[in-house]
Amino acid sequence: MKVTVVGAGAVGASCAEYIAIKNFASEVVLLDIKEGFAEGKAMDLMQTASLNGFDTKITGITNDYSKTADSDICVITSGIPRKPGMTREELIGINAGIVKDVSSNLVKHSPNTIIIVVSNPMDTMAYLVHKTAGLPKNRVIGMGGALDSARFKYRLAEALGAPISDVDGMVIGGHSDTGMVPLTRLATRNSVPVTKFISEERLNQVMEDTKVGGATLTKLLGTSAWYAPGAAVSALVQAIACDQKKMFPCSVMLDGEYGMKDICIGAPVILGRNGIEKIVELELNDAEKAHMKESAEGVRKTNDLLEL
Ligand code: LAC
Repeated sequence: MKVTVVGAGAVGASCAEYIAIKNFASEVVLLDIKEGFAEGKAMDLMQTASLNGFDTKITGITNDYSKTADSDICVITSGIPRKPGMTREELIGINAGIVKDVSSNLVKHSPNTIIIVVSNPMDTMAYLVHKTAGLPKNRVIGMGGALDSARFKYRLAEALGAPISDVDGMVIGGHSDTGMVPLTRLATRNSVPVTKFISEERLNQVMEDTKVGGATLTKLLGTSAWYAPGAAVSALVQAIACDQKKMFPCSVMLDGEYGMKDICIGAPVILGRNGIEKIVELELNDAEKAHMKESAEGVRKTNDLLEL
């Protein structure tokens, strides 16, 4: 199992680290445009191998895509991250060109790969890769929902005063401050609806804190987060590599599901060796449907800025 991670910045490096620590991939190639940068990160990470007990071989490459040949899975983290006060949508001007270029280089050397898109604005970047890379729709996956759901569970556990392992919940919709749809109605503590334990007001607070999860960190860190994004990507990569058939909300090209077409937006999918093996359609209530519709309008507005 060969995994390529493009972009050796904080998100890409964390992603490579978590993949290696989980020890399921034989090889991780880290590629960056900055001379020597990916080589340095890869060497530093490899020097943790004996300490952390993994055998995954991490190699760093400066911009030579021939070294990524025959990757089973490619992760795109390239582009600029947001600064405090910026929305993810504002990154489109710079990131669209980068993501288009990176995905075409990847597919040239790994025509059967599965691409996981992390760069922002993520739903639009996933849409761009769908439109330009020529891969079947089950092989392009946007990472967003897995991260947003992890942040949702963190906030739920905090509100419940419960350990995170007691909590389950999912965020669908667009990966943006206004587009996320945390499914509070379906969230549970050990299969008991969380509404049994916390007030509607507290749950609304959880929902709002979840939606600005990334922005809160950007304000604190001065740049966007990396540990949880890296961990979320590694969970998706593992689900595919190990054919786990796990369910994650991911940005997926819809073709009638949820009443939408020609849009990449967060919905629950089953991930296995073939990438997206199934889109799971949930029965949403009217408020959730309205929220999803509004979210899709936001994503389409950003998609309209693409020059396809
Ligand atoms: C975040 C970025 C990765 O939400 O979109 O932290």
